[in-house]
Amino acid sequence: MKAKILDGKSVASKIRNRIKEIIEKDFKPKNFQPGLVAIIVGENPASKIYVSSKAKACNEAGILSKVIELPESTSQHELIKIIKQLNVDPKFQGILVQQPLPHHINQESINETINPEKDVDGFHPMNMGKLLLGESGFIPCTPLGIVKLLNEYGIKLKGMDIVVIGRSNIVGKPLAALLMQKNESTNATVTICHSATKDIEKYTKDADIVIAALGKPEFLNSKMIRENSIIVDVGINRVEDVNSQKGYKIIGDVKFDEVAEKAAYITPVPGGIGPMTISMLLYNTLIASSKFYGIDINV
Ligand code: GUN
Repeated sequence: MKAKILDGKSVASKIRNRIKEIIEKDFKPKNFQPGLVAIIVGENPASKIYVSSKAKACNEAGILSKVIELPESTSQHELIKIIKQLNVDPKFQGILVQQPLPHHINQESINETINPEKDVDGFHPMNMGKLLLGESGFIPCTPLGIVKLLNEYGIKLKGMDIVVIGRSNIVGKPLAALLMQKNESTNATVTICHSATKDIEKYTKDADIVIAALGKPEFLNSKMIRENSIIVDVGINRVEDVNSQKGYKIIGDVKFDEVAEKAAYITPVPGGIGPMTISMLLYNTLIASSKFYGIDINV
């Protein structure tokens, strides 16, 4: 294999250790503890695994964590009532509502209900707007994790041609806004491709960096990319696997084996962007909590 692995698992673990140290040093002696509450509605098995991974990471870092599991039948009104109570609960400085929500619940109304100061997912329109304007606010965890991982490997994004495939509100849109910001760690030229793009390859084959975040297993192949480009795989797709005990395996949006023969750097799945997303959630929770308690921290 030619490409160097961008090891999200190890970078994410370093960040979590640093967060843990800060909590030990700056919060514990004052009897403060950062807290994150996660709400999950319904029985989506993948969402359940993600939320339990988030809760486990919180516990390991010393963040108080609570998971509220609600039945699929929960009404929008009931969910909003619970969020409003959590908005004023001083134990939790971060609130997360796992997506996707059941179809009868309006995602926009939920995003707008969360107190922007506790919005550690960065999905509230106020935080999204601030991101677009280059103002400080919470930045969604996957986009932030991607930039932190590339920066950690010394990859300078200034002036880079970056193609993002996918325009979701969770990844593609905030990622494009983040990458184009005029600051030290970003400042790239960004193109977004999506389901209506006529010829995606036309854009990806000239790109310095391709970020695949469309949710289609092994979509990006080696013919679509430039020699020595940098490939970031955001996909987490469950596909049937008769050889696995679980009956499925997780694969990304990139045809890893062939793309890794052509690219200079590549993120694996699992062990790439997934763990970085969780570390950024802990990071955002730490920031929310430090503001709440008026603690100066140095991450
Ligand atoms: N579903 C997939 N990714 C995410 C995320 O980062 N946050 C939430 N709340 N739901 C998700």
